[in-house]
Amino acid sequence: MRLEVDSLSFSLKRFFNKKLPQEKNNSKIPRHVAIIMDGNGRWAAKRGLPRTAGHHAGMVALRRTIRAANKLGIAVLTVYAFSTENWNRPQAEVDFLMRLPSEFLRTDLPELRAKNVRVMMSGSREGLPEYTLAAVDEAIASTAGNTGMVLNFALNYGGRAEILQAVRRIAQAVAEGQLQVEEITEQTLQQHLYTAELPDPDLLIRPSGEVRLSNFLLWQLAYAELWFVDVYWPDFNGEHLQAAVEAYGRRDRRFGGL
Ligand code: IPE
Ligand code: IPE
Ligand code: MG
Repeated sequence: MRLEVDSLSFSLKRFFNKKLPQEKNNSKIPRHVAIIMDGNGRWAAKRGLPRTAGHHAGMVALRRTIRAANKLGIAVLTVYAFSTENWNRPQAEVDFLMRLPSEFLRTDLPELRAKNVRVMMSGSREGLPEYTLAAVDEAIASTAGNTGMVLNFALNYGGRAEILQAVRRIAQAVAEGQLQVEEITEQTLQQHLYTAELPDPDLLIRPSGEVRLSNFLLWQLAYAELWFVDVYWPDFNGEHLQAAVEAYGRRDRRFGGL
């Protein structure tokens, strides 16, 4: 067990600039950027279009943003695509959203592979349709060996659900005698999150004008810099990303110290 953990942290250190997930990042370029892709419906409504047209335009914005993030040298880009609360939307909209991953990956997976991007997913598989999972699984498997930017889809993701499943697994390990209560640390919990392999986000970007987290990465965002921008997601582009990254570079991250 000890050996396994050591070799895992060794490969992670190599992968992430010799820094472990929980280590402070003082570089001017955020290692991990997380984006809440919000405002598709309002973008469409403003144009008299159905909400689905907004989701489609949001996909184009995603393509643009991935290219821009890659050029900026961001190591991990996590995008909030569907929350555990988004199931509460009308069935037709949910169905449309569930088809987007396969549509996006059908057109964009070749480019992602060519650019050495590694696809990952953070979220619960439960409740996701077969065709959605199949597309995501194919993308994950076929890019597993890639060493460039990580593109992490937060799909059927909820921060509370994530922490809850981590707590359950840890409790199970205690119940089975594999773990002592005193041995549970912040690292134990971190290692049971969907994002166990990833460093915490340095920068959170939310477009659309809303100023809230909406259950996104509640544990991981503890010390992230927050950036809210008054543009709907389908209008988001490389310049918006650049502006956020530049603002990030000017921030003084103290992590509670001086
Ligand atoms: C974000 O846009 C996409 C998802 C939540 C899946 P919205 O659909 O939330 O758009 P608004 O916020 O209603 O404008
Ligand atoms: C957050 O946006 C979820 C995604 C962008 C996938 P929502 O539109 O669901 O958030 P609320 O409802 O405005 O908080
Ligand atoms: Mg919204």
